[in-house]
Amino acid sequence: WENMDGTTRERLSHIQGIPLLERVVKYWPRVEKFQASEEDLLIATYPKAGTTWTQEVVDSILNEGDVEKCKRAPTQVRMPFLEMTAPDGITKLEVMDPPRVIKTHLPIQLVPRSFWDAGCKVIYMARNPKDTVVSYYHFDRMHLYQPDICLVLCKMGILGWGSWYDHVKGYWKERHNKKILYILYEDMKEDPVREVTRIAQFLKRQLSKSTIEHIVQMTAFSAMRENPMANYSTIPDTIFDRTASEFMRKGEVGDWKNHFSAGEDAAFEEHYRKIMSDCPIPIRFTI
Ligand code: A3P
Repeated sequence: WENMDGTTRERLSHIQGIPLLERVVKYWPRVEKFQASEEDLLIATYPKAGTTWTQEVVDSILNEGDVEKCKRAPTQVRMPFLEMTAPDGITKLEVMDPPRVIKTHLPIQLVPRSFWDAGCKVIYMARNPKDTVVSYYHFDRMHLYQPDICLVLCKMGILGWGSWYDHVKGYWKERHNKKILYILYEDMKEDPVREVTRIAQFLKRQLSKSTIEHIVQMTAFSAMRENPMANYSTIPDTIFDRTASEFMRKGEVGDWKNHFSAGEDAAFEEHYRKIMSDCPIPIRFTI
């Protein structure tokens, strides 16, 4: 499926059996050796689970709702993407002073060891797989470096960053052994005040009710969509083809209903129930 349309789309290569973009594999030794510090915070997600949203919420909490401070630079500069940014990004990350907020899509077993040795906090956000795959599909249409995908590949776990199932289960099973706050996209959509409060408590930030409410407004889909420092409008058109889709696309729970036929849904449900039977993550497909 690589380069079928003759674009710059990259191939997937593997690290410990996990498919990753070739550029990630190329610089893997530097990623693996990355030295985290105790004050660093890792935001981990499977792609399209609401990473950017979580990042904006975290930055708003750390800056106590100061809009101007949160607009100091685009998301990818404020909170670098650990494995993807090589080689320039990892160099920047290496010289950035802790506390750093770092984004990753790596499954838990590939997270550089120094994060666990240092005892870093991790915020993991999961999103139901039907909406995740729809979002991934549309993202793939616009992101000209991503290989082409389809639902079957998702089931088989050969999308970039591997199987959604293994990813969400990996962090879930370790959440009590490590400092992992596990949050769900659907919960944040349903009650953002409650979830932002949980994140602030995890980060040991005392914020007033009005600051929390202000942060919820600042990080709402409609606000982030209009914010050039949070909507990836700084990524050039040669990488993000906005005629195909938008990064800030819909931001809803249940868009999968517009894409899954009844038959596909039934097949997916059967597959999902079977594979998730050993791991009761309370993920909802509608709210
Ligand atoms: P959709 O494609 O369903 O709209 P990631 O940041 O992990 O790449 O995830 C992107 C998805 O999160 C996109 O989903 C995007 O619209 C959604 N998203 C981004 N900001 C959001 C927000 N503030 N509220 C809800 N969803 C948001």
